[in-house]
Amino acid sequence: MVASENTMTQRKLFVTTALPYANGKFHIGHIMEYIQADIWVRFQRMRGHMVHFVGADDAHGAPIMIAAEKAGKTPQQFVGEIAAGRQQYLDGFHVRFDNWHSTDSAENTQLAQGIYKDLKAAGLIATRTIEQFYDPVKGMFLPDRYIKGECPTCHAKDQYGDSCEVCSAVYAPTDLIEPYSTLTGAKPEIRSSEHFFFQLSNPEVVDFLKAWTQSPGRLQPEMAKKASEWFEAGMADWDISRESPYFGIEIPDAPGKYFYVWLDAPVGYLASLKNHFDKGQARDHWHPASRTAASFDEFVADPQVEQVHFIGKDIVYFHTLFWPAMLQFSGRKTPAQVNVHGFITVSGEKMSKSRGTGIDPLKYLSLGMNPEWLRYYIAAKLNGRVEDVDFNPDDFVARVNADLVGKFVNIASRAAKFIPGGQLVANNAATLQPAKLVDSVAALYEAREYGKALREIMAYADEVNLRFDGAAPWKLAKEGKALEAAAIGSECVEHFKVLAACLKPVLPALAAQAEAFLQCAPLDWASAASPLGAGHVVGSYQHLMQRVDAKLLDALFEPPAEAVPAAATPAAPEAPALPGGEAMADTITIDDFSKIDLRIAQIVACEAVEGSTKLLRLTLDVGEGRTRTVFSGIASAYQPQDLVGKLTVMVANLAPRRMKFGVSEGMVLAASHGDEKAQPGIYVLNPWPGAQPGMRVR
Ligand code: MSP
Ligand code: ZN
Repeated sequence: MVASENTMTQRKLFVTTALPYANGKFHIGHIMEYIQADIWVRFQRMRGHMVHFVGADDAHGAPIMIAAEKAGKTPQQFVGEIAAGRQQYLDGFHVRFDNWHSTDSAENTQLAQGIYKDLKAAGLIATRTIEQFYDPVKGMFLPDRYIKGECPTCHAKDQYGDSCEVCSAVYAPTDLIEPYSTLTGAKPEIRSSEHFFFQLSNPEVVDFLKAWTQSPGRLQPEMAKKASEWFEAGMADWDISRESPYFGIEIPDAPGKYFYVWLDAPVGYLASLKNHFDKGQARDHWHPASRTAASFDEFVADPQVEQVHFIGKDIVYFHTLFWPAMLQFSGRKTPAQVNVHGFITVSGEKMSKSRGTGIDPLKYLSLGMNPEWLRYYIAAKLNGRVEDVDFNPDDFVARVNADLVGKFVNIASRAAKFIPGGQLVANNAATLQPAKLVDSVAALYEAREYGKALREIMAYADEVNLRFDGAAPWKLAKEGKALEAAAIGSECVEHFKVLAACLKPVLPALAAQAEAFLQCAPLDWASAASPLGAGHVVGSYQHLMQRVDAKLLDALFEPPAEAVPAAATPAAPEAPALPGGEAMADTITIDDFSKIDLRIAQIVACEAVEGSTKLLRLTLDVGEGRTRTVFSGIASAYQPQDLVGKLTVMVANLAPRRMKFGVSEGMVLAASHGDEKAQPGIYVLNPWPGAQPGMRVR
């Protein structure tokens, strides 16, 4: 049975997530958005569609300029350092952007200025003189958030320029009593300057936006409704310029004036895509079809290309009014879809950096927590509407352990035992109508109803487990009905394959392990429901995923330790010992070193070696399309199941060595003290998240 894909044409998708401000690290809200989009992208690719999936840092604006100055850095340096920290998060959570760029780039300057010029030529840019507060000490116009003063309504002191936190009054900064600049404390002066406005109130623009926001499939129904409320309230022109000093893009023919950050920020989507194209196939390896894509200019002009944005609920105005209007009236294509998600809360509380709540994504990874637990949990909670999502630690443990491991992973482990030699026999897998599941799940992924998709997948897994229990192959085996036992085992392996395919967008690494076990081609949508078939041979089952230990959640939420006072640090040892208990080896040249081919290896299986207390038998994936067996003397330090799925480093070009228990095809790197008796302990090397099997270590 094959899902009915034959009539479908290949879609061309250009997918983005909101561009994060380059003034802070990623938090769990960012990661949630990236996981949501990444699942959708992986699903589309499994369908055979062509996708370019890009992100970038949103680098410009007054807050970043001021933060950089406080840090004693140029804004470029400041955002550069933030950008350098991004990849470890993305790799760590298996978020595969094809490109990551910056709004502070040549591409963005060129594109933003081009769009502006076209809007101007269309007669939609007006100039107006406005009055604003100016900090005479700092020598700059002050954004509202840098002005405080006494509330004109309740007379509370130190209220922000736009609204009062005490009485909730909303006002203009010029209404504040005794205003002051939060940057210098100076009393701001009112000064006038000429600003540029994008005329959103132009009837042609309003008419366009009304039709655009209401066009079916473009926005979620609740967002389309919100847009119509905005139109009723009336469209105001949009102030798109800022005075120097400003970290941003200069406005053509207007010396000393810059685009407001939100003018060039969404243009960054296009800039990252252009950068991706201009780099050639640099990182464009993900879907073979994308290699055939045309140039950036052709691609963005192609009427078939669907531009799809994933954003949070706080930036809808920019993406459903300003951005489509900018594109439309500069003669460009507008987005096909803007998908809005709610916010993630943690145990029902809004995240707050200052109170130290929320989840630190890097801490999650450094605790060794499986990124796919989080992907699964977030997916299970997401739907196609604009609803907040709560991360609840107990719920997290329950869903991962009971559903993901208990229902899905277990199928393979239970079934494999009854299939002699791994060779599948004729069975009744068709009874559960896998094609129906696959089609239904596809429709749900498409609509971003991930929670529903996972519920259907788990309901199917329940049925599979019921059939297995009902058939009781362990009894059949005892009764000498080995073939019947093999049939139910084979059936369950077939179901496991269908489920693994359905889960692959959410759990790419687990799916890769499943593919290795099933010894099948990469799972895709067209073949998701078709059986491996009688005669197909699967590999030996290795445990695929650990359960979550609830203690990990405690560790995750434990507040960071206070800095240890200097006096409390242990005293230095009396005599300088040899490093690690042995002298440094003789100097070698880089050529000597390069003879050693070190590779990232994934431990796809690991077992104790009968007759040896020292050795473990590792099955390693070094990205060669086959696995290697390596014996390693680490049994004293590791339980086999704890190593499965982990990455490590191996010497890949060591001559194979015949050992008592078999041939060892390389060596895994581990650290230990020179005097094992004096200081026991073996520590297998584990690369930073993101390394891929087969990558060379140099
Ligand atoms: N720089 C702008 C976006 C420019 S897009 C051309 C921005 N940056 S942000 O870093 O503040 O937010 C980036 C994305 O993260 C937004 O989509 C935002 O909604 C999302 N989230 C921020 N906090 C969030 C949660 N607590 N939960 C989920 N998403 C959240 O806005
Ligand atoms: Zn007040």
